[in-house]
Amino acid sequence: MKVKTKENASLLMAAFATAIVAVTMVLCGIAWWIVLVVAVAVFVAMSLFSLYMMTAYVAYKLKPIYSMVLSRKVRTNEIVDEIREKHVENISEELTAWADDNDKEINRLKQSEAFRKQYLGNVAHELKTPIFNIQGYISTLLDGGLEDELINRKYLERAEKSIDRLINIVNDLDTISKLENDMNRMKMEHFDIAALAKEIVEQLEMEASKRNIKISIKGAESLPSQFWVTADKHFIGQVLVNLIINSLKYGKEGGKTRIRFRDMLDKVLVEVEDTGVGIGKDDLPRIFERFYRVDKGRSREQGGTGLGLAIVKHIIEGHGERISVRSELGVGTTFAFPLKKSVDKENM
Ligand SMILES: Nc1ncnc2c1ncn2[C@@H]1O[C@H](COP(=O)(O)OP(=O)(O)OP(=O)(O)O)[C@@H](O)[C@H]1O
Ligand SMILES: [Mg+2]
Repeated sequence: MKVKTKENASLLMAAFATAIVAVTMVLCGIAWWIVLVVAVAVFVAMSLFSLYMMTAYVAYKLKPIYSMVLSRKVRTNEIVDEIREKHVENISEELTAWADDNDKEINRLKQSEAFRKQYLGNVAHELKTPIFNIQGYISTLLDGGLEDELINRKYLERAEKSIDRLINIVNDLDTISKLENDMNRMKMEHFDIAALAKEIVEQLEMEASKRNIKISIKGAESLPSQFWVTADKHFIGQVLVNLIINSLKYGKEGGKTRIRFRDMLDKVLVEVEDTGVGIGKDDLPRIFERFYRVDKGRSREQGGTGLGLAIVKHIIEGHGERISVRSELGVGTTFAFPLKKSVDKENM
């Protein structure tokens, strides 16, 4: 008999005790029927007693573990009741599963702690540069620069630029934390996405002409277009601004930015494509991380903080969708995201 359960163990012990008693009685010449009656009685009594003792012992040993798992004082009786209904090995499986869950939770907390530290470090680092710049310009002005016609205006303008940068960083951080704390803040409405893109492109035309980049929108030739979506217009506008500005910042002089819409079953796929510097394979999975910039020098030079795409990702995920990117170094980059198609544009 294999001793796998407490019942098996108690039967084994009872059989052993019965055998000793029966053999002793036989050797003493006691009548066979008395031996039989006593043996049965000893077997039953020993099985029940040893089962009870074993359960009580296991319950006593499990008590501190149960109290820890359940985070409360557990009475021995409660565990005795539980063991009566379950095999001990099931309990050990449950406890192992609990320990695994706890390990996973601890790892998750460690990761989020590491992320929090890195995030705080990044925020401090990004804020430090413009703050020290402002301090430098103001000190120089106070130390006599204010009377120097050659530099006073220039330094004040530079200090203002650094203040604008600080405001941009704080606004971006504010947007991200609002989006993180309340994903349901999207205000869904029906609108023409091609018309919105056209509006935004008109606002960015100056920027584009500085780099001699041509922006085209396929699908906005005649408005209203056929591409109506249900989404948060304000936030989707912010996504388009970020993606189009990136296509200009990391685009090549004289290049092209194409915005396209594709009708796909119940979705409209929005694509922003450029003919810019492209993003390498190693950097591609990381560009949506906060503060991640492929070419830190180039991005900072353009006033970039590395928060734009993190905001874009949050907004698209807030719509229950995913943003994808494909890119080839030296050839260009395409960002694409789907939005729910509006079903009742005629009724609006
Ligand atoms: N269209 C693109 N072509 C090439 N590289 C890009 C493109 N878009 C983004 N990147 C790379 O991804 C990085 C992250 O982009 P993101 O928009 O998050 O930050 P940023 O443009 O540097 O700053 P911010 O948008 O906060 O002003 C950029 O620094 C750039 O290196
Ligand atoms: Mg950007």
